[in-house]
Amino acid sequence: MILLPKHIAIIMDGNGRWAKSLGLPRFAGHKKGVDSVRKITQICGEIGIDYLTLFTFSSENWYRPQAEVNALMTLLSNTLKKEIENLNSNNVKFKAIGELSKFPSRVQNEIKRAEELTIQNNGLNLILALNYGGRQDIINSFKEIAFDLVLKKIKIDDICESLITQKLCTHKIPEPDLLIRTGGDFRISNFMLWQLAYTEIYITKKFWPEFNENDLKKAIEEYKTRERRYGQISEQVVNEK
Ligand code: IPE
Ligand code: IPE
Ligand code: MG
Repeated sequence: MILLPKHIAIIMDGNGRWAKSLGLPRFAGHKKGVDSVRKITQICGEIGIDYLTLFTFSSENWYRPQAEVNALMTLLSNTLKKEIENLNSNNVKFKAIGELSKFPSRVQNEIKRAEELTIQNNGLNLILALNYGGRQDIINSFKEIAFDLVLKKIKIDDICESLITQKLCTHKIPEPDLLIRTGGDFRISNFMLWQLAYTEIYITKKFWPEFNENDLKKAIEEYKTRERRYGQISEQVVNEK
């Protein structure tokens, strides 16, 4: 049996459908989704997860109707403002990944404040992926590598898995062990394309606003039953344990 995942990543999907199923506007789903974020973050801290990455806003989500994007920006800055003291007192270390410069300055300011306030904490690492796209992450790493090549800091043969990994915005974060997607769709929607190579995937039909402690525990229990073979055969990985 394998241990608790060190890093859980979640594609928090289904806010809009949850709201629609109740005859509410999509935004009500995003708002309710914040309650799930609070709950799941708290549980992850309590059970000793080291890293929790939440896919919060993708690089493609800008193409949604402007009113929805605006509402999400307001929700984001208000939520950060409201929750950060509580996260700090729970020893959570907050970090945002993604191209943050595209966000309104009020959002950028709240992110910066949250990161600075919690920088010394050593409990759960809470990472929000904001304006994050897996392809963009890889493009940025290629650019950095090309730059180093041009400056002759590296040679072509230095380009390897670990160099690319180091140039991604997740370079200080271990790869996710468990990826949970709520809302029932079987896709990764441009999330952490490189980093998810050997991540265990768990998909639930539950919409994000209704995802609760039991659902998280179910996903972790299922993860514990998986055999991570990394291309090898069962006997090899059993022997390694
Ligand atoms: C996820 O829920 C939240 C964001 C992508 C910001 P959705 O808003 O995508 O909800 P559905 O998938 O339309 O139900
Ligand atoms: C993925 O959900 C992005 C986030 C949860 C932030 P989407 O709703 O954007 O994904 P698609 O469009 O269904 O692939
Ligand atoms: Mg969606």
